[in-house]
Order: sequence, then C-alpha cells, then structure tokens
Amino acid sequence: MFKRILFIAGNWKMNNTPSETEENLKELRDQVKQFEGKLNIAICPAFPALDRAAKILKNSNIKLGAQDVSDKTSGAYTGDISAEMLKDLKVKFVIIGHSERRQYHHETNALVNKKLKTALTSGLFPIVCIGETLQEREKSQTEEIIRSQFNGAFDNITEDEILKTTIAYEPVWAIGTGKTASPEQAQETHALIRKLLTEKYGSEVAEKIIIQYGGSVKSNNASALMKQPDIDGALVGGASLKTNEFAKLISNSLVVK
Ligand code: PGA
Repeated sequence: MFKRILFIAGNWKMNNTPSETEENLKELRDQVKQFEGKLNIAICPAFPALDRAAKILKNSNIKLGAQDVSDKTSGAYTGDISAEMLKDLKVKFVIIGHSERRQYHHETNALVNKKLKTALTSGLFPIVCIGETLQEREKSQTEEIIRSQFNGAFDNITEDEILKTTIAYEPVWAIGTGKTASPEQAQETHALIRKLLTEKYGSEVAEKIIIQYGGSVKSNNASALMKQPDIDGALVGGASLKTNEFAKLISNSLVVK
C-alpha cells in the first residue's frame, strides 16, 4: 500500500505583521528542525509577510504557503494577488476555498475550481478546503455537501493535477470554536472523500492524495486524529500561532498507524 507522508500546515490568517512573522518564524524554524525528513511542514502567513518569510525559511524544512490566490492571471483586479506573484515570492502551497473565504467573500465552488486551475497552471501546490456547516451537519446533509463541493472544486481536474493537490476537510463548525470533530467523525468524512477520489480517479490515485483535517486541532488532540487511517495531516489555525504549541502538535502528530 502507498505510504502517504504526513503534512501539517499552519494557516496564520490575518495575524502577525511582517515584523512579527519574521520573529515568530525564526523561532519556529529552529524548533522544528528536529523533524526534518519526518513530515512536510508549511506555514501560510499573510500576503505582506511572504517576502520576509521566504528569506527566513530558505534552506529550512518549512515550506511557504499563501492563504488565497486570484483566479485571474493579471490585469485590472484591484486588491487581488496572482499566482505568478506568489511564485515569484517562492511560495509553494496555496490554500483555496477556505470556509472564511466562502463565507466572507462569497466564494463559490465554481470560483474555487477556477482558482485551482490557475494555481496549478502556475505550478503552485493547492490545498483545497471543503467542509459542512453546523446547520448542514444537523440536517444530515454532510455527505451531500461534501459531494457537491468535491464535484464543483475538481470539475475538469486531471489525474496529474489532483496528484499535486492536497484536500483539507474542515467542518465549519469546528473552525476556531474549540469544538473538534471526534476522530471517528473526521475519519468518516475523510473516508467519504477518499471514496469520491476513487470513483473519479481510481484507487491508485486516491491512495496517494493527502487529506488534512482542520478545525481546532491542538497538541492534545492531534495524535488521536492522526491515528485515523484516512487522516494524513492537519491544517491548523489558532494552534499554529504559538511556536511551542505548534512544535508540540507536530511532535504529537508523528504517530505510527
Ligand atoms: P483553527 O482553524 O485551527 O483555528 O480551528 C483551522 C483553519 O481555519 O484552517
């Protein structure tokens, strides 16, 4: 069976100025050096901090990510950031379709799909977020929502392209709320996502795709989540902002399955 490499990414959201980013990343870089070769680690700081972050992370075992990207390649789109700009800043990963973008910026599955295409064309590695709201879960619509977000996001995405993509399952009700999906609840949805991947791309490809869990992952719940067979990493918000906590979360995530 194909062995997927654990992938933990920190999403700093609208936190840390460029100066704070510099300071915090230096600390984190030194603390996680010990995990070199054991997993993949990425940090996604805010756009204005990317340039300084790239310099600090050069030759480290932390890869640089961004939190969003435009679906357009260039032109009169005030305030937007293109994939080429990110590439030029040495960004490797990009989060697409985070629920906060869907909620506050009304991003649709169709837009997520366009952004995904643009990012892939530029050679970025996308982390595509999907997940249901509390209301949808309570109405037993989780499967339906995941299915439609999956179909929308990966419409016309080829096998080669999906192999460069990470999927993050982030139940909206668990983001920043302190409520984590139980390891069993998370595993159930991860298995569903792997099933959808199998239906669309075949099992050989599906087995290779990293599916991260996101939503109040902390050092004290990381290991139980990472033990689940279809959970291959985490997309971490709040707990990635504190260096010691994030390093501990990484260390606790290195579980043997
Ligand atoms: P959280 O955020 O860890 O603070 O819940 C996760 C995310 O939004 O990616």
